[in-house]
Amino acid sequence: MRYVPTFCLHEGMKLGRNIYSSDGIVLLAKDVILNNEYIQGLVKVGVNGVYIEDTVSHDIIVKNVISDELRIHAVKSMKNLYNQPGDIAKTLNTVEYLAKSIILEIVNNKSIMINMVDIKTFDDYIYSHSVNVAVLSSVIGIAMHLDNRKIEKLVASALLHDIGKVFIPISLLNKEEQLTKEEETLIHSHAEKGYRYIKQHYNIPVTTYVGILQHHERFDGKGYPDGKKGEDISQFGRIICLCDAYDNLISEKADKKAYIPSDAIEYIMANNGLIFDPKLVKVFLRRVAPYPLGSILRLSNGEKVIVIENNEHCSTRPKVRNLENNKIYDLTYDTNLKNITIIAVENS
Ligand SMILES: [Fe+2]
Repeated sequence: MRYVPTFCLHEGMKLGRNIYSSDGIVLLAKDVILNNEYIQGLVKVGVNGVYIEDTVSHDIIVKNVISDELRIHAVKSMKNLYNQPGDIAKTLNTVEYLAKSIILEIVNNKSIMINMVDIKTFDDYIYSHSVNVAVLSSVIGIAMHLDNRKIEKLVASALLHDIGKVFIPISLLNKEEQLTKEEETLIHSHAEKGYRYIKQHYNIPVTTYVGILQHHERFDGKGYPDGKKGEDISQFGRIICLCDAYDNLISEKADKKAYIPSDAIEYIMANNGLIFDPKLVKVFLRRVAPYPLGSILRLSNGEKVIVIENNEHCSTRPKVRNLENNKIYDLTYDTNLKNITIIAVENS
């Protein structure tokens, strides 16, 4: 199985996994052979890519980070929560239950590295995004060996990080044209509005709501709302900022194309110490694969290869297989390959 961005799909490809709507309805089922109508449908609903099954990737097993059942339940719950934020007791129970379930599945999954996080559509973006940021935050919390109760608070904070967007007009959130200064200020207010709302209405730990307040602060002090700097920003704020940015980068939106994971990771490295906490970036690079399993790459010696294994010690040098002669190269550990570099990601 391998992930292929929607713009590289063509007729005759076989779908490797179900595609779901935010209500858990199967939009396209596993094993369907794609035709132009299906591909156009995927473009229309904003799916940035799908898993396909083909001869070059038939032996590559890409595990879900969390199960389809939990993801569908989590996305549906976040949708309800965003649409009826007033039901206090129910909301708290939901967030706590989801946080525990996400952590449990990630701990049991035992995958060392995360491949592609999720496939989302435009209509469920905000809910799927909250779930993805929670999943990534959990992965980082576990990798940092934070204690379990702390990770639960972190994941709850990640699930709720954009709750303040319920107070911003939807037309403004979806606006594709350049924003005015006033509009930008209004959108930026979602961090503080979400924090105030949660703090006033919910009896939850301070670290959880401070994470919501600070998820747009930058390590160099140029973020918002308070321009806090470095470790003056809470640990939750710094973790959620990084996970939020990564998931935004790899997502297709009305006004921007999705980055492939290696480009998103490059962006994170370029902003190491500016937007992001260098200590967290280090952990992130060990846990999130720039070349997810099944990625097709061009090497500097001209060979076309497919990623068959990732390695947390050097995530930019995976184990690969030549597509023509099936020779296997370990770009990290094979000393004869030190001069060979990855020069491109080829998706078709
Ligand atoms: Fe946000």
